[in-house]
Formats: sequence, structure tokens, C-alpha cells
Amino acid sequence: MSQDSAPVIRLADYRPTPYAIDKVDLEFDLTPERTLVAATLVLSPRAGTAGEPLVLNGDELTLVRIAVDGRELREDEYEASADRLTVKAPPAGSFRLEMTTRLDPAANTKLMGLYRSSGTWCTQCEAEGFRRITYYYDRPDVLSVFTVKIVAPKIEAPILLSNGNPVSSGDLGDGRHFAVWHDPWPKPSYLFALVAGDLDALEDEFTTMGGRKVKLAIYVEKGNAPKAVYAMDSLKRSMKWDEEVFGREYDLDVFNVVAVSDFNMGAMENKGLNVFNDKYVLADPEIATDADYAGIEAVIAHEYFHNWTGDRITCRDWFQLCLKEGLTVFRDQEFSSDMRSRAVKRISDARLLRSQQFPEDGGPLAHPVRPEQYKEINNFYTATVYEKGAEVIRMLKTLIGDDAFARGMDLYFTRHDGEAATIEQFIACFAEASGRDLEPFMVWYREAGTPTVTIDESWDEAARRYTLTLTQETPATPGQQTKKPRVIPVRFGLVGPDGKDMRPSGIAGAEVNGDTLILTAPSHTVTFEGLPSRPVPSLFRRFSAPVKVRQSLSSADLIFLLANDADSFNRWQAGTTLAMTALVKATQQVRAGQAPSFETAPIDALGKLLDDPALDAAFKALLIAVPSENDVAREVAENVDPDAVATAHLAYRRTIAGRLEARLRAIVEADNAAADQPYVPDAAGSGRRSLANTALDLLSITGSAEAMALVRRRFETAINMTDRMAALTILVHRGDAGAEAALAAFFERFGNVPLVVDKWLSAQASAPLPGTLDKVMTLTQHPAFSFGNPNRVRALVGAFATSNPTQFGRADGKGFGFVADIISRLDAANPQLAARLLVTFRSWRSYEPKRRAQAETALRSIQGKPQLSRDVADILERTLA
Ligand code: ARG
Ligand code: ZN
Repeated sequence: MSQDSAPVIRLADYRPTPYAIDKVDLEFDLTPERTLVAATLVLSPRAGTAGEPLVLNGDELTLVRIAVDGRELREDEYEASADRLTVKAPPAGSFRLEMTTRLDPAANTKLMGLYRSSGTWCTQCEAEGFRRITYYYDRPDVLSVFTVKIVAPKIEAPILLSNGNPVSSGDLGDGRHFAVWHDPWPKPSYLFALVAGDLDALEDEFTTMGGRKVKLAIYVEKGNAPKAVYAMDSLKRSMKWDEEVFGREYDLDVFNVVAVSDFNMGAMENKGLNVFNDKYVLADPEIATDADYAGIEAVIAHEYFHNWTGDRITCRDWFQLCLKEGLTVFRDQEFSSDMRSRAVKRISDARLLRSQQFPEDGGPLAHPVRPEQYKEINNFYTATVYEKGAEVIRMLKTLIGDDAFARGMDLYFTRHDGEAATIEQFIACFAEASGRDLEPFMVWYREAGTPTVTIDESWDEAARRYTLTLTQETPATPGQQTKKPRVIPVRFGLVGPDGKDMRPSGIAGAEVNGDTLILTAPSHTVTFEGLPSRPVPSLFRRFSAPVKVRQSLSSADLIFLLANDADSFNRWQAGTTLAMTALVKATQQVRAGQAPSFETAPIDALGKLLDDPALDAAFKALLIAVPSENDVAREVAENVDPDAVATAHLAYRRTIAGRLEARLRAIVEADNAAADQPYVPDAAGSGRRSLANTALDLLSITGSAEAMALVRRRFETAINMTDRMAALTILVHRGDAGAEAALAAFFERFGNVPLVVDKWLSAQASAPLPGTLDKVMTLTQHPAFSFGNPNRVRALVGAFATSNPTQFGRADGKGFGFVADIISRLDAANPQLAARLLVTFRSWRSYEPKRRAQAETALRSIQGKPQLSRDVADILERTLA
């Protein structure tokens, strides 16, 4: 097939461009019928390249004019195709290239480049969207200073925005007006943005630590400004936090955020003009859940933090994507930890990593945090680059300590400001700041795969010596058969019988750095001397490394850690390990035709924790949250039968609900009693709701009339979306007799709020019921659904594929077939969206043989389609390899 011939881009082939772009002037003439873009570039040859052909990127472009130094080029002097422009013999010195391209933003369904969203003109240029606007060196290492003039009809687009600071604006007298923006900070093309539309603004201001007054504005569709209040508050807290924690100050007179309803990703950090998926801006208690609020806070922070880690210092090439993304995720995680509960945030992040990144790292799409080759860069905006990339930074901090880490960051900011940098340059700053050789640490960037650390222990009573053997192994991943040992920080405690950490008189066998062992070899035997009794080991506290741990602690030890560990993360981990062990065993029993059975001691231990007034509600909610069916399937790893997992999972939840019933009921009732308290989306309020809704979910599993009455009551009396949505989801997922009426009432009330329609779609798509697939197919015809809107597609089809293991994984293959058909159908219009959906098949080889064959048939059906996009062809090729 022709797609297989997409060229491989390799890190090893990196070369600078022959020309630099010193200055860019863009003029956009926007009308609903057509858009003209006049670009004027001042180019100059880099040393020794004068006179070389100038070859610029394009993508689906139409050139209408080209001139060099004011003279229009003859046809034999250049070649212009949709995806490339060549000026055969440019002048020897610096020269001025003028190009005019004609675009059709209304027909741009790929949502890359300049497109229209609900009547607003907007752009998305990362990674390679700028080349859909004009011919350019569309790569991150070509930095230039941009001046942008926008001309547009006044009625349709009273608001005209671009990067940098506003320079001038005025009326053109013929119903059109214009605005000029200038961005003094040199930037690569992927950070370019333009927005033109009839939008409302929520305005505010922020004074930086250096005394600069910055005008802040969040632009939204008409009438939505009140829903941007939380985003604005998050923005101001982010600006302050980056000054206090990283010493980073904002550097323009304005900072604008625009929320659009059609967006392929979460948001984009364009210099001074962040463009967001409206999902990460719009909130009020009526329409947004606690999770939505937390998401807004995190994404607003993330994009703002990119101003330094991404914009002021960018990436030399796309292989270095984690240089800005891993680091910026690390920064937003730290911010959220400071705003909320650090322990709860750490647990949520570890859960996310395990559910999203571990399966990626252990499957056909595995790639290093810093990949060395790609066919389509959009397919590398992954959990590995983002979330594992953040964990690598966190390990670096653990390894060299907080002070050296802070000095390394400062050095990075001063040394590379204004540059397009590499991971090697970044790491060199920390090597210098700490005096540590970080070459061995680079394995985390260069090699894919999740290491497993196997732990063996022994206790020598006579010698009072405790010994741990820690052995690491990383499985082979595509293209990387053998793996080097990694530097693994193991934050540890040795817990004594009184629940306190014991202090050994000596430790040998590995480097020790405070409470952290540093593993560097394939295996370490570490001895701890002078202990009064055998300790219970608490390893990888705070999830100190993104690894899998194989350790056979007894139930008694795990229950002891659950009750006593000084480290909250490991208390939760002990509970999760107990639950997971029970769930895997129960799944095996089901597959062997036996009834699943469960130990009661771990459940009673959870009950005790629920009674502990010292523990906060959010933490308790995490303690009783049962690992998901997908989590269990991942642990089972091969020959997975999702029905067997579901049967075991249900039996386990019934057992918990039965044993803890009185306590769970008391939690729900206490929360009902607090129902009149005003809604505040902070850590305390969301913790209380999360505990109550988790308890209600467990209670409902018994199906008792009493429990379901509690759920219905919550649905009817809820005064916020968190509780209403939790109750609706339970009714729908249990197939309750009141579910249809509840869905209808919900739609009646919120059917005109697209972001809430998404919740309504997802609740139905994730219902573990035999009728779900038919329902989902019917919903694709619903007037509130549209294949053109990525949020709608993800809410319905994405939720079905990712959150409904038994129905996506139906034994008859119809779930796979349905999703495959949608991918084929979407690919031409929006390849990025189609490719994202396709990733839901990545673990197809883990199924039992029958489902594996069904999944393969579905994948091959996509492969058989003509004209696959590079995005889908690349994922497909790797998934089937
Ligand atoms: N840089 C954006 C972020 O903040 C993501 C943009 C990704 N866009 C894309 N088309 N791949 O994470
Ligand atoms: Zn980012």
C-alpha cells in the first residue's frame, strides 16, 4: 500500500536549515468565502549556504503570488506544489520573499492550520499546521520575529487576536477593520496563532514580580464569560506560582486565552495567545464536575507554564518534544499538588500513568520518552512523552536533590533562553549543578519499556540484619531487543512493629541518598544492619520511579502497611495490591468455572480506615476505589477474557459492599445531610463528594431497592454536576428501571450545553450492558451528536472503546467492528482524531484467541481502505507489526 512508503524521519539526520528567517510579516484577509494570506519573509543564508535552493514546507496550499526582492518570479524560477515550494536560485545575500496563498478555512475539517469553529476563525499549528497557512520552514528550530495584520469583516469578527502585543487597529470604512500584533520574542512557527470572531471576554489583570502590569483576557462564545471565572482564577494563581517556585515572570503586556468548541487536543501554548478546547475553560457548578474543575486548573497552568518551558526555550526538533511536554507536565503536577492535596495528586498521577502509559510502553506502540524516529509526529503526543516524561524529571529531582535541581533549572533558563534546545543540553545543566554524571540516567530517555523490579528479602534474626535483593529487568520493545540497566531511585522506609520507621545502623550494597536507594546495576543486594526485628519494607514511597514492582509481601504485611505506613502513597498502594491480588485470583477462578472467593481481612482493614477521623475524605475515596476492569486486565496480561474479569470484578464489589454496607450508607447519609452547603470545587469539597459517590457506587452494586432509592434521590436532589452525574452514571450502568427517565430529564435540562451532552453520551457509551452497542449506534444519529466535533466523538466512541471493556470487547467482535468502521469513516476528514481512536486497539494481542482474531479482523478492515492518512497508516502498521 502506498501509505507504507511514508518516509521515516530520524533524529540522526538532523541538519540546520540553509537559511535563517530573520523576520516575518503576515497579512490575513479574512472573508467567509475565501482567505488570502500574504507572507513576507526576510531570509539570510547561514554560513556557507548562499545560493542553495530554498525549499519550504506546505500542506494543501495554493500559491497565488510569489516575488523575491519585489520582483515576481518567472515560472522557471520556482516550483510550487501543494506540499512544497522551491525557489531554485535565491540571491546570494539576505533577501525578501513574498508569497500569497489562498485558503478555505471553512472546508478545513482536519482542525490543523486555519479553520473555523462555530463561526470563529482560529488556528492550531503544533506540530505541522503552519505549513497549511503559508510555505515556511515549519520546524521548531527556525525562530523568527512575527508581525501580523488581520483584516476581517467587523460584524463577523469584532475581535482580532494574534501573538504578542497589540500595535494598532482601525476601521477600513467598507465594513472591514484591521488589527496589527507584534511579538517581540523570536518563536518557531508552531507557536503562531490567530483568532478572529465575535466573542465575549472575561478581563482581569496581573502585576508581575517585576512590576509589569499584564492585561488578561479569556475569550469565549457569546454569553459564556461567567463560565470562565474559574479559569481566570487558575491563570492568576499559575502566574504567581511560577514566580514563586521557578522564578519565572511573564514577558508581554497581554495574555489572552481563547476557548473554541472544535479542537483536536486539550489546549495550545501559542505565545501570548493560548487556544483551548472549551472543555478546559468553561465551568460552573451546574455544568462542571469536580474533575472538570481540576482539569481546568491543571491545563490552564500547563499552557501558561509553557511560556518558559516551550516558548522562551523551545525544542530543536520534534524528537525533543518531552523537553517541553514532560517538563511542563511535571510543573503543572507540582502546581496542582500545591493547590490541593499532594498525596491525592500523587496517587491520581500514578493511576493515570499505569492506566495510560504502561499499556503503551508494554504494547506495539512503545517508544522512548525521546523517540529517535517517526513517520507522523502527531502520533507522538503520547502518555510516554507527557506523563512518563514528567516522571523522568521527578526522578532526576529525587536523584540530585531539591537544591541541585533548582540550580539546574535556573542554569537551563539562563543558558538556553531564546534557543531551541535538546534533552542533552537540558540534562547537562543538572549534571553541572549537581556534579553527578548523568549519562547512565539518559537510558530513561533513550530506551522504551517499563522496568520490573523484583524484590526478595531475608531476615537474619541472630545477626539483626535485613537483606533486600532488588533486581531490575526491562522487556524488549519494538526495535529495541536488549536493554541497559537504569538508574532507579527507590524511596524507602523500614517499618517497625509500632508503625514507625526503624533506623538501621548501617546500609550497604547500593548508594543511599537520604531515604532513597539508588539502583544502577541489574541487581543489588542491600543489607541493613542493627535492626531490633524484621521490618516490613515500604518501597517506592511516593511512587519514586515509574516501574512495576514484583514483591510477594504477605496479606498480613500489606494490611499492616495499609494501616501504618508513614507514606500515604504506599498505604494506598498496599490496599491496591491487596485488591488487585484478590481480583486476579477471582478472575482465574471464574475462567476455571469456579465461584470467586475473597479473603475478608483486607476488606475489614479498609473498613477500619473509613472509621479513622484523621484521614481526609479524598484519600478514603481512593482507598475504597476498586481497581478498574482495565487495570485487572492489564495485570492478567494475556489471554484476557473481559467477561471473566467483569464477573470477578462484580463479585468483589458485592463482597466489599456487603461487608462495609453500614459504613458506606453512613457516608452517603452524612453527605446528604451536608447537601445544603454551597458548592466549592476545592480539595475538601471535592474529597467529600468523591467519597460519598464512591460509597454510593459500591452500595448500588448490591442492587437493593434501598440502595437504588438513595441513588435516585441523589440524582433528583443534586445541586451540582458532580453529584448529579455520579448518580446518573450509576442508574445507567446498573440498568436501573429509572435510567431512561433520568437520561431524558437530564437531556431535557442540559441538551443545549454541548459539554454536558458529552457526559450524557459517555455515561451511556460506558454502560456494561448487552444493549450498549446498539444504543451507541443509535446515538451517532442523535441531533446533539456530530462526527465533525472531536469532543462529541471522543465522548461517545472514545468512551465506548476505552471505558467499556466487555462491550467494546464483545465476543462476537461487533464492538471492534463498530469502532473500526468509525475510524475508517473519520480518517479523511480528521486524521488526528481517527488515529487517536485507533490507539484503543493497542492491547489487542492480550485478548484470548477468539477476541484476538476478531480484533485483528477489525484492524485489517481499516487497512483495506484506500487512501489512509499518514496518521492512521502509521498507527495501524505498528499495531499490526
Ligand atoms: N502543546 C500542546 C500541549 O500543551 C499540545 C498540542 C498538540 N497538538 C497536536 N496537534 N499534536 O500539550
Ligand atoms: Zn504541553
